[in-house]
Amino acid sequence: MITESREVAAFSVKNLTVSYGPRPALLDVSVEVEQGQLIGVIGPNGSGKSTFIKSLLGFVKRDFGSIEILGQPIEKAKGMVAYVPQRGSVDWDYPITVEEVALMGRYGNIPWYKSASKEDKRIVKECLDMVRMSDFRKRQIGQLSGGQQQRVFMARALAQGADLLLLDEPFAGVDAATENAILDVLESAKAAGRTLVVVHHDLATAAEYFDKLLLIKQRLFAYGDPSAVLKEDLLSEVYEGELKVFATLKQNGHI
Ligand SMILES: Nc1ncnc2c1ncn2[C@@H]1O[C@H](COP(=O)(O)OP(=O)(O)OP(=O)(O)O)[C@@H](O)[C@H]1O
Ligand SMILES: [Mg+2]
Repeated sequence: MITESREVAAFSVKNLTVSYGPRPALLDVSVEVEQGQLIGVIGPNGSGKSTFIKSLLGFVKRDFGSIEILGQPIEKAKGMVAYVPQRGSVDWDYPITVEEVALMGRYGNIPWYKSASKEDKRIVKECLDMVRMSDFRKRQIGQLSGGQQQRVFMARALAQGADLLLLDEPFAGVDAATENAILDVLESAKAAGRTLVVVHHDLATAAEYFDKLLLIKQRLFAYGDPSAVLKEDLLSEVYEGELKVFATLKQNGHI
């Protein structure tokens, strides 16, 4: 279901603080994101990117702050958000086929007393086609390459039909062809009116791939057009010491 009103923010985060231990992983983050955009989340390792994504899913306990998804408080937004987790966080030995993983995306739409309908199966097929994984539908998920697994998890998220899709480093460890395939899928989901929030590591492609960037390191350092976020002063503050990042970006004329 694509929500009709474009006035409502895809999500709105106010004064969000999250901590696992004494030091907060996220501190006083406030941001409002319009619908129908492809948003990149950038920041160094351990800067709170995954925590931010998990907060939008309601997976982590907030110390403080509020979150609204499409105008609804997060507690009422179940099923409105789909998620593709960071690769290391999934148990790949679990005995389940590609088709079954994608069908899991439909579980929220299937009443407990029913099995998957023809419509559910049609949607699953369409989503596996989109990520070009239909030929592998009977294969166990553990017997796929990393890039293929990533695409199956994207199919599961797409099958859910949620307006807001959160992807945690979908491009990590994939080859150029898979990277392009994933990017195509993101672009078509956006063309269908969905909002996509994508944790991304490679600053060199960030401006090219995304409409807006969110720069996080515990706090929100910037949110806006890539040209406004990929500024040398901002990046040197956030990526302190990671001089290689700048050398490459400068060399390629990105900053
Ligand atoms: N479950 C947890 N328990 C305790 N600390 C955690 C937990 N998850 C994350 N952290 C800590 O919170 C901080 C933010 O972690 P997070 O995973 O959000 O960072 P990230 O930006 O996604 O990093 P990466 O680029 O390495 O994926 C880090 O210091 C991390 O060690
Ligand atoms: Mg992470």
